[in-house]
Amino acid sequence: MAAPRTGTARAGTVAVIGAGFYGATTAQRLAEYDIFDTVVLTDIVEGKPEGLALDINQSRPIEGFETKVVGQTTSRDGEGYEAIVGAAVVVITAGLPRKPGMSRMDLLETNAKIVRQVSENVARHAPDAVLIVVSNPLDEMTALAQLATGFPRQRVMGQAGMLDTARFSHFVAEQLGVPIADVQTLTLGSHGDTMVPVPSACTVGGKPLTELLDQAQVDELVTRTRNGGAEVVALLKTGSAFYAPSAAAARMARAVSEDSGAVLPVCAWVDGEYGIDGVYLGVTAQIGRDGVRAVVERDLTADELTALREAAEAVRAKQADVRDL
Ligand code: APR
Repeated sequence: MAAPRTGTARAGTVAVIGAGFYGATTAQRLAEYDIFDTVVLTDIVEGKPEGLALDINQSRPIEGFETKVVGQTTSRDGEGYEAIVGAAVVVITAGLPRKPGMSRMDLLETNAKIVRQVSENVARHAPDAVLIVVSNPLDEMTALAQLATGFPRQRVMGQAGMLDTARFSHFVAEQLGVPIADVQTLTLGSHGDTMVPVPSACTVGGKPLTELLDQAQVDELVTRTRNGGAEVVALLKTGSAFYAPSAAAARMARAVSEDSGAVLPVCAWVDGEYGIDGVYLGVTAQIGRDGVRAVVERDLTADELTALREAAEAVRAKQADVRDL
């Protein structure tokens, strides 16, 4: 059995709303970091978060972590939300996943109701928290969570870019037969059709990707990355991806909690950067205790910049619609 870390302070509470596949694996990863006092996991299905929390806690002697997981059933009108009081970070995973053949936008109306109601309850009980939204359609749900909480925009962000980037890196490593650690990739834009993989920012062992693969091969990997979520959904048939998504969300929560200043691809409020006004969009941003410290602009080729601006316009129209949902 692994020995728990000794002599290192564990601090703070992080809450995960929604104890489905995504939420439960996120809670597990956060607990296994062994840096938090408490991970709170909630769901509206009676007993589900309590049962999962008990199960994760029983893995503590084997995995060797001290962080405690607290499961709490909540009602739609807010009963049970006292459990998240004091949480510095809240990850919202509540919402339906896709079924084969569905686009993320097909979830818009259903998940908007859920995310609005969850956000209102979070705002009441953890008014100072940084929010990380993962429910789909991601860019729209992030915008909606900000509206529904009334939190400063920098304190609300979405998880998508880290996942899309991880998928891109995996495909590149697989194609070239190189260690994943040698691969750096980047995707910006939306978590959907207007995702913008950025080959000019991709390197393998320090060499530009474009020197190692021809244009057709890069295009193929870009397309597979853009459809990365749908590929998993089609194989699973029930539900969508959660291992890579939860890895990304947990890393974001950790960067907030540790006030690390890490520059990560996230869905953040962009206002002026890249010549884009007022919209939640996938960009690289420096993450700290208060959420997004700053959007970090990258050098893009003219085509990549055009694609990013097109993505911004596509999500802007949809984000305006969420006000009424
Ligand atoms: N409050 C709390 N939990 C809720 C609420 C709510 N109002 N409504 C639904 N839930 C819970 C469900 O009870 C379920 O346990 O959200 C959970 C969703 O879990 P799954 O169906 O397993 O879906 P998951 O794979 O976890 O995906 C969650 O992340 O990637 C996105 O598209 C995906 O929007 C989906 C979300």
